[in-house]
Amino acid sequence: AQVTSAEFVKSSKRKEDCPADGLPEFALVGRSNVGKSSLLNSIVRRKKLALTSKKPGKTQCINHFKINDSWFLVDLPGYGYAAAPHEVRVDWDGFTKDYFLNRKTLVSVFLLIDASIPAKKIDLDYASWLGKNQIPMTMVFTKCDKRKKRKNGGKRPEENVEDFQVLIREFFDAAPPWIMTSSITNQGRDEMLLHMAQLRNY
Ligand code: GTP
Ligand code: MG
Repeated sequence: AQVTSAEFVKSSKRKEDCPADGLPEFALVGRSNVGKSSLLNSIVRRKKLALTSKKPGKTQCINHFKINDSWFLVDLPGYGYAAAPHEVRVDWDGFTKDYFLNRKTLVSVFLLIDASIPAKKIDLDYASWLGKNQIPMTMVFTKCDKRKKRKNGGKRPEENVEDFQVLIREFFDAAPPWIMTSSITNQGRDEMLLHMAQLRNY
């Protein structure tokens, strides 16, 4: 599974405006600043295809990127961005959840979780919502290159990943698949591509 072409197609605010060509797609969701856009760039080996920022709240729409002319990677706004006005957060939350619930060509949601810090309630709540609504999902842990720091609870990424999986077990009938990644070292890139190829071929 290799990426031979990747192009930005369009930004939409409603699922009705999303591309209608029926190609399968995978959506990246997670807390603002968790590394969604960076992971997309790592997967396609392009530094600036999706715009990234040190400041949270960079991605504000449903952004479709066409890969190998045959499927989409979809970059979404993050949740939990405290600095955005309340109405804006409600709007993002509304259109992303509507998209998850109603987008027919969505094969799987990738829920990104920062592996360098202990589990956050907002992430557990999001996993719970996806589980409750039976939306197919894969856990993708980001920033696995970051070493432990005392202020981060002093745990290694591997330990945070294990803790998170224990905490979400009750939300799912079957434990979701999971992948550890880093956009700095490109850890997990091949695994992500293989996983998506397998899901598309079901
Ligand atoms: P929003 O669009 O605001 O929701 O954020 P996002 O989830 O798209 O995050 P983005 O990719 O813009 O990255 C946020 C910050 O985290 C940037 O400063 C990145 O350089 C950094 N970052 C992203 N991925 C990694 C990673 O794997 N390792 C490390 N160490 N930093 C990362
Ligand atoms: Mg982004």
